[in-house]
Amino acid sequence: MTSFWADHRGALFLFGVTTGVAASATVQYLRTLLFGPADHDFHGHTDHNKDSLQDPNQPNQETLARLERDFTLTTAQLQSLVKVFVNDMKRGLRSDTSVFKMIPSHVTSRPNGTETGTVLALDLGGSNFRVCEVNLEGKGVVRTRQRKFVVSDDLKTGTGEELFDFFADCVIAFLAEIKLPKDVNMKLGFTFSFPVQQLAINKGIAIQWTKGFTASGVEGKDVVGLLQDAFHRKGLKIEVSALANDTVGTLIAHAYVDASTYVGVILGTGTNAAYVERVDQIPKWKGAAPSSGEMVINMEWGAWGSEGVLLPTTSYDKQLDRASANPRAQIYEKMISGLYLGEITRYVLVDLISTGELFRGRGSAALAKPYNFDTANMSRIERDHTIELSDTRSVLEELSGIQHTSLADRRLVKRVCELIGTRAARLSAVGIAGVITKINRLDGCTVAVDGSVFEYYPHFANRIRDALREVVGVNAESIVLAQARDGSGQGAALIAAIN
Ligand code: BGC
Repeated sequence: MTSFWADHRGALFLFGVTTGVAASATVQYLRTLLFGPADHDFHGHTDHNKDSLQDPNQPNQETLARLERDFTLTTAQLQSLVKVFVNDMKRGLRSDTSVFKMIPSHVTSRPNGTETGTVLALDLGGSNFRVCEVNLEGKGVVRTRQRKFVVSDDLKTGTGEELFDFFADCVIAFLAEIKLPKDVNMKLGFTFSFPVQQLAINKGIAIQWTKGFTASGVEGKDVVGLLQDAFHRKGLKIEVSALANDTVGTLIAHAYVDASTYVGVILGTGTNAAYVERVDQIPKWKGAAPSSGEMVINMEWGAWGSEGVLLPTTSYDKQLDRASANPRAQIYEKMISGLYLGEITRYVLVDLISTGELFRGRGSAALAKPYNFDTANMSRIERDHTIELSDTRSVLEELSGIQHTSLADRRLVKRVCELIGTRAARLSAVGIAGVITKINRLDGCTVAVDGSVFEYYPHFANRIRDALREVVGVNAESIVLAQARDGSGQGAALIAAIN
């Protein structure tokens, strides 16, 4: 309940800002948020004396107001971003040099739920590599057996050969576990969740790494070829039949159970979307027109903002970008996805410590370390509704090494998380609204969404829905955001099965 009201107070605050009563709405909003409903005397007048006193249990109001200003996106801003987004989609469909790569996936039909067969699926998302046996039983029923392997930082940043050898070793371990021989011959779908210039259904050149990967000798190469080479080195006989992005996989897997699925979105370590486009809307497509007239497009929407598009970044976003493994790339992704939300928060906290606005100016070695404040910490803090914010205290004192926190500190940290988490959800809504506007499906369609941020970050889905309402009005009610768990691998298996 508390969070419900917190979210709606946020929406009212935004409404206030856009209707030109920013100053008083801001003060009123902050008062309500911090002190609870305004105190009234028995004549019904608000007690203004409180404004001049700084309650030691409350964060500094100027600090809060500044952060609100930096991180809040108004309805008007969202609406104009959607317009730019749709335009950038169209530019990407015309040429490969636009900010959105808008990559034709070579997937030209969606499953209808009747497909059957047993296929292997490999899924490299971010920190995990999954090997999965997918049984398509028809009637939209899928049964899977899978094993998850952790991709270490050394593998992410070593050589491509080591990385792909690791994938082959994982397949060997999995086949042994499900008691299939190493020389088994089955179809295999490979989900590779990075930008790839797709040349055929089972061929694609890696464009560039994202999400902290830098393994050498992969960019510019056909990733199916690299996988197939590793299989040969390790004595595996399996042929790769399909290569897909995780967004394409998510879309296809969900279409198997819900035919009105036109969009697949990942909100996890990274972010991206795929959708069903009409081929006559893709001027850059020079291949034969498929009989379906449709093509699934992998947008690579995480790149938005990398081309000087004015995304409302703060100085913290800029610091993060400069220090990242891929500066000036994936700006939208860096404002939305799980790899980065904790890091933006860390930059804000470090700054507030340096100015003495937080923890009486005392930081910690743990908090000074890049990427050492996980987005999962933000989830815990946002979920903390205890009076003393005691779980927030555990995160800060036990996990982040801060010696002593006051209630005011903890309230400030919680507000920082809310602001950064809300901005991420509202920016995600811009993308979703943009895609649905572009394909004219505002009257109803399903958006399949997967990824840890969507699944585990508190209020994320509701904040997206609130923002969608602000942007597309009542049409938002016809947009179904469906949680599509583990669809990415299954989707690649389905693509392999039908190709
Ligand atoms: C990659 C996309 C991927 C997304 C979600 C991004 O960093 O560029 O290809 O779909 O992460 O995993």
